[in-house]
Amino acid sequence: MHQHDVLIIGAGLAGLRAAVEAARMGVDAAVVTKVHPVRSHSNAAQGGINAPLTDRGDEWEGHALDTIKGSDYLADQDAVELMSREAGAAIIELEHMGVIFSRNEDGQLGTRRFGGQKVARTFFVGAITGSAMLHVLYEQAIKLDVNIYEEWFVSNLIIEDGACRGVVAMNIHSGELHTIKAKAVIMATGGAGRVFEPSTNALICTGEGLGLAYRAGAPLMDMEMIQYHPTTLAGSGILLSEAARGEGAYLLNSEGERFMKTYAPDYLELASRDVVSRAEQTEINEGRGIDGNILLDLRHLGRQFIEERLGYLQEVAVEFLGMDLAEQPVPIRPGMHYIMGGIKTNVDGATEVPGLYAAGETANVSVHGGNRLGANSLLDTVVFGRRAAVAAAEYARTVGLHSSDESMLELEKKRYQDLLDRPADLRSAHVRREMAENMTAGIGVFRDQASIDGAIAKVEELRGVYARVAVENKGKVFNTDLMSAIELEYMLDVAQAVCAGADARKESRGAHFRTDMPERDDENWLKHTLVYKDGDGARVETLDVTITNWQPVERVY
Ligand code: FUM
Repeated sequence: MHQHDVLIIGAGLAGLRAAVEAARMGVDAAVVTKVHPVRSHSNAAQGGINAPLTDRGDEWEGHALDTIKGSDYLADQDAVELMSREAGAAIIELEHMGVIFSRNEDGQLGTRRFGGQKVARTFFVGAITGSAMLHVLYEQAIKLDVNIYEEWFVSNLIIEDGACRGVVAMNIHSGELHTIKAKAVIMATGGAGRVFEPSTNALICTGEGLGLAYRAGAPLMDMEMIQYHPTTLAGSGILLSEAARGEGAYLLNSEGERFMKTYAPDYLELASRDVVSRAEQTEINEGRGIDGNILLDLRHLGRQFIEERLGYLQEVAVEFLGMDLAEQPVPIRPGMHYIMGGIKTNVDGATEVPGLYAAGETANVSVHGGNRLGANSLLDTVVFGRRAAVAAAEYARTVGLHSSDESMLELEKKRYQDLLDRPADLRSAHVRREMAENMTAGIGVFRDQASIDGAIAKVEELRGVYARVAVENKGKVFNTDLMSAIELEYMLDVAQAVCAGADARKESRGAHFRTDMPERDDENWLKHTLVYKDGDGARVETLDVTITNWQPVERVY
């Protein structure tokens, strides 16, 4: 029998930060993760983590305003205020835990500038910030004896009397299904990048956390807000960190022009990501790209600087393009990177399902609104991962023992067996690819009603054929074919919710740029979209944005 007070699904930065806090609070905390913790996608976060430190003359209000402007005024300002106020303490705590942040020449924690901000407030570890933080939080979790179900795949939630009471998960090593009961569950499964193709996200970013919560009745908020990162490598779509532009790299078109002067005369290459990606795509669409790409030029920074500050980027360019950043500009283009939308939570991570909490990319609290600033995602994970753990642990102390009903386990066993028994027909990989390429085409940097309608029709068609997806590997041990088929069902839920949000929002805001409705419409759309699962379809409601100190104004960079 597996039973815990607080069960955290996912071992990325939000999940591990939550685990550390829950353990510190003295409750029985456990983490269940489909990969080894340090293989979580947070490991791929490169450029840094934002924090306004008062001893540098920076104040929380400046970071909050930049974040709100970056969000195109869709972020809830009470949540942003909280994140900005807690950021400094979060960075110092990480440093004390052992994250070896890069230092400046005076020996202080070093900073670089990131997009949408005039102040250099991004703390970093070279270009491996996520990896450095993840390893330290994993050490802390081990030190605190957090129980980790490593390489266990959660495929359903247990909901009793409307409250979340645990999960059913497969031990991937053995193929056995188990119930893990919990008084509170924190969803920290990261993003859903693989619902799009290409994406900077790891293959594990399949969004089942979003699908699980959606099926349990929690609304997904602002799912149409998909971030296309301005610098992903031509071909592979691998991320080349914004740190390059933060350290002074240029974006050039086929005529050798720094074209950002036309689109963002004040911030240039360091405008917010939605603005830069649209500028790049416009240059490409108007014939000033190079084979569908733009150039990122670091040559003027010099080899020594590149290798010291951006060594990881140099490795990526050499490895994947055979190019030397000190010698040649590299071809890049906008690529799907992050989903601002997610499971709606309050500032303590609570969802609309009692006992179910969420934090990190899978949640939407909402601090990113229509467009996330670079280096605010790591901050979001540690601030709201911690807060979710505090709230979940307090909740766990108030609820009694679980029932011993194993009906969900039996249902899941049947679900797995049905998939294994299906006669050979469609492969999940084919359906995934068709869905993901279609999502990029329909819900891209630019979209309009026709492209959204096309995406909706394709997603519904693929949902219709899901019953034919079959599993060729009939074995029990490490059956990734079986996992992929189950992940696909949740990916199709995410795709449905993204399409529903995009269809509902009749304006352009942040990353949701409709060429058929190019203006922001604060009168009618200073609102969140909430997508609820409704039978086999999606129902969209809206919710007013929380405005505290900053009235929406025109967004100019
Ligand atoms: O460009 C980057 O290093 C990505 C950072 C982020 O998404 O926050």
